[in-house]
Amino acid sequence: MTHAVPVALEGRSYPVMIGRDLIDRAGALVRPLLRRPTTAVVMDRSVAALHGDRLLRVLEAGGITAHSIVLPPGEETKSFEGLADLSDRLLALELDRSDFIIAFGGGVIGDLAGFAAAIFKRGIDFIQIPTTLLAQVDSSVGGKTAIDTPRGKNLIGAFHQPRLVLADLAVLDTLPDREMACGYGEVIKYALLGDLAFFVGLEADGAKVLARDDGPLAWAVRRCVEMKAQIVAEDEREGGRRALLNLGHTFGHAVESATGYGEDLKHGEAVGLGCALAFRFSVRLGLCAGQDAVRAERAIAAAGLPTHLRAVPGHPFRADDLIASMAQDKKAQGGALTFVLARAIGDAFVAKGVDAAALRAFLIDEGALS
Ligand code: NAD
Ligand code: GLY
Repeated sequence: MTHAVPVALEGRSYPVMIGRDLIDRAGALVRPLLRRPTTAVVMDRSVAALHGDRLLRVLEAGGITAHSIVLPPGEETKSFEGLADLSDRLLALELDRSDFIIAFGGGVIGDLAGFAAAIFKRGIDFIQIPTTLLAQVDSSVGGKTAIDTPRGKNLIGAFHQPRLVLADLAVLDTLPDREMACGYGEVIKYALLGDLAFFVGLEADGAKVLARDDGPLAWAVRRCVEMKAQIVAEDEREGGRRALLNLGHTFGHAVESATGYGEDLKHGEAVGLGCALAFRFSVRLGLCAGQDAVRAERAIAAAGLPTHLRAVPGHPFRADDLIASMAQDKKAQGGALTFVLARAIGDAFVAKGVDAAALRAFLIDEGALS
């Protein structure tokens, strides 16, 4: 069964379609959007090898000339160098502003190709076909696109909404288990930030989601997309409520930065860890009951995600280094530390001007070096 979740934005609404084997229908679904039957499919080498031919064949069968652009896998591709390479290859294809790019991959390809689409000839349309759980539940929806710089993640980017998102659950069959767990870090984040009933459902059925059982997987992806679609429709540019989607990210990005954004700690793992830290910090500040932090931590750990700094290679980290990264966070305003904290499971809020001394003491108690 296919579900279509609308992202309602004045004049730029689009559906997120969720179902198995949607790729087989991609030609028919994409063709009506194209003014000229030509497109560039951007993918990384791993996705190209596993699923590329199938998508290209389906598009061709739908009467679309599909040029493939294959990039190296990994976060390093989401860089100025990666952007320059992709832009040059798009220019070589002589696409014009009425054409489309298709981002076929995980969050790295979605963020990079989306940003390239935002600036290519001052902006062309794009379609997201996300192939990781993380991209299906989060990064392909909502129009945030970006590249990293040596100074931090996602610091150069643009809001640029896709015209269509096709989340084909069947492509997750080839996703390594570690990447499924990473996506689950974002799934848990949604439940923790705003939906206690969803959290209770994940406590019961999280293992089935991770095992890719059709029903539970479709349910979890759909619930996350519904929540994201609603938040984005209310606050596209993150003036307020959208910041809740960053639950776990201030802690998570700081530790990701300390580990060098590599294999030691992947983004979804950092989000899981960050959510556990955000709940424990909320307890420490007297905002949240200890029992909720314990439950959150248990659900995160059950997916095999880290919940403590000591579980991360490179531990112990220096508290001041972590705090310096947090002060660089896009949410930080005028150097004031901003966190998404929680009053309870399903009740997160944005806390501005968090006390740096309290944060430092918390991080040291969590095992960071003073
Ligand atoms: P990713 O794109 O690097 O994909 C993870 C790995 O899985 C890669 O090695 C890839 O080749 C492989 N892969 C992808 N699909 C596969 C499949 N179906 N089968 C087998 N292997 C497959 O990483 P990700 O976790 O999808 O995304 C992380 C990125 O997303 C980060 O850069 C993060 O900043 C970004 N992000 C963006 C947003 C947003 O709103 N724009 C939100 C969350 C995360
Ligand atoms: N992943 C955070 C957002 O899209 O706002």
